Amino acid sequence: MLNVIRDDYSYYELMGGQEGIRRLVDRFYDIMDTAPEAAEIRALHAPSLKQSRDKLFMFLVGWSGGPQLYIEKFGHPRLRARHMPFPIGDLERDQWLWCMNRALDESDFPPQLVTHLKGRFAEIAEMMKNKK
Ligand code: HEM
Repeated sequence: MLNVIRDDYSYYELMGGQEGIRRLVDRFYDIMDTAPEAAEIRALHAPSLKQSRDKLFMFLVGWSGGPQLYIEKFGHPRLRARHMPFPIGDLERDQWLWCMNRALDESDFPPQLVTHLKGRFAEIAEMMKNKK
């Protein structure tokens, strides 16, 4: 599967293109919106999660190898800089990953892709930390 991921297909195709990514993002934010385990990071977001849903969707479409929807609309992601207004430490990182890992576990992605994506998201989330 790892060879398949690296060589033959993009994440984008394996995740089911825009439909699959939209489903993942919607489930991720539904979990964040309702789970007490994610209360601290939910409070960092606006009352409506619509903009967050759209932005993460557009970002992941491009990041996974699909059309660069986010860059076309907002320019270079500069993800770390864009997260600077929000205090992110171990707790926030862990809550974000808890939501994403649950959404991935509930997805219909192949199990090895799920494992692989969990590792990649963990690396990106770690980079977002901007406080102890
Ligand atoms: C580590 C814990 C994280 C926390 C607490 C966090 C929190 C937030 C918050 C509060 C926003 C602003 C709301 C919005 O406009 O959407 C945001 C934006 C965003 N986040 Fe995160 N985030 C985290 C990790 C990540 C990761 C790992 C990714 C990518 C895989 C990501 C992708 C994005 C994107 C694309 C945006 C929109 C940026 C913009 O255009 O302003 N975030 N995040």
